[in-house]
Amino acid sequence: MKQIIIEGSNKLRGTINIGGAKNSAVALIPAAIMGEGISTLTNVPCISDCDDLLEILKLLNVDTTLNDGKMTIDTRHVENKIISEDLSTRLRASYYFMGALLARFKHVEMYFPGGCNIGARPIDIHLKGFEALGAKVKKEDSKYIIEADELHGAEIILDFASVGATINIMLAASLAKGTTIIHNAAREVEIINIADFLNKMGAKISGAGTDEVIIEGVSSLHGGSIRVIPDRIEAGTYIIMGALLGDKLKVSGIIPEHLAILFSKFDEMGINYELGDDYVLLNKAKKIKPANIRTVVYPGFPTDLGQPMSVLLTQCDGISLFDETIFENRMGHVKYLNSMGAKIEVSGKQATISGKTPLHGAQITATDLRSGAALVTAGLIAEGTTTINDVEHILRGYERIITKLSDVGAKIKIVEI
Ligand code: UD1
Repeated sequence: MKQIIIEGSNKLRGTINIGGAKNSAVALIPAAIMGEGISTLTNVPCISDCDDLLEILKLLNVDTTLNDGKMTIDTRHVENKIISEDLSTRLRASYYFMGALLARFKHVEMYFPGGCNIGARPIDIHLKGFEALGAKVKKEDSKYIIEADELHGAEIILDFASVGATINIMLAASLAKGTTIIHNAAREVEIINIADFLNKMGAKISGAGTDEVIIEGVSSLHGGSIRVIPDRIEAGTYIIMGALLGDKLKVSGIIPEHLAILFSKFDEMGINYELGDDYVLLNKAKKIKPANIRTVVYPGFPTDLGQPMSVLLTQCDGISLFDETIFENRMGHVKYLNSMGAKIEVSGKQATISGKTPLHGAQITATDLRSGAALVTAGLIAEGTTTINDVEHILRGYERIITKLSDVGAKIKIVEI
């Protein structure tokens, strides 16, 4: 097990450069297998989720190289194989191999995906989408067999604007016969990045980033290249840290409009920041007004930032509300924040946070990726030493987090025990 140890209460000064978006990269990598030839992705984040996807590509006999964030994916010898339970369950995004392999081979066998333990996370909307395109879905224990003689276009109304289902249907429909329209599609910016990549590979997709995505199927795709967009969740996490501890902390390489909802919350809470074209400069906020955060689909407040944001809410003067509406279980970090001195009461998917409470160091445990990010944030502002267990969760989604924070003055290290 890996632990992160933090000596808290140090100011953060200097620049943190934001890496490529996890939720884009983890879809772009499986999407690349749909192209016949070589694809290139740049700005690929150095996170363990990407390493796990590379292992799946290796199994499928796809050659890859990865140097300094530039990944080449050569599919000239690709073979369709069963993706084992061990590989499928390592991460959520393994589910994109369902759409990608179904598109390319019209047959896929793999297991229920893994990912953070933040609720049931069914994949019924993905599967209904594949069926609408003409596929048959069989389930043998926890293995899925999805196959089709031919995929055809369809009009699909999603029960919920699911990010994963929107992308998966977009993948499968790109190589279907005829036109597919996804109604009630998710509008997250990562979906635009995936559609841009598929279009560079020869697909015909329009409307990505709106709630109606139109995919005109084509008969084959070739290799393409794309730059992974900046990670708005990584950026948001460091921006929150800047509001708590910044001493001219610059968070650089961001697309400010992707973070508009966070900045609008900062305005409401009286937190100052200086926004440039691709950066934001932050100082520790002196007096922070309480706020109500309700996580919803894009462009609303992202569920992936709710937990880090809840740490900021502990430092507001008054009572704030953190209302999670997407996943059942985003409160895994709360008992640990309370053990550090926070006053948070949880009722179902809502947390009432009474501030301002000083935090002190403690022995705590990351229960999922974003709870881990929240606990690192808490450890940085706490008096004394904080030790966080099970930080493998954090390494799945935050590249070089120890180096990035150490470089701006945090006293943080990672140890293997
Ligand atoms: C993706 C992101 C995750 C983010 C989430 C919401 C990746 C790899 N992960 O996850 O970081 O928190 O979007 O922005 O990109 N649902 C169903 N049936 C389905 C699919 C989803 O009921 O078939 C439900 C889920 O349980 C959840 C909600 O819909 O309650 C949203 O899920 P979805 O948008 O699909 O999230 P993910 O793709 O899992």
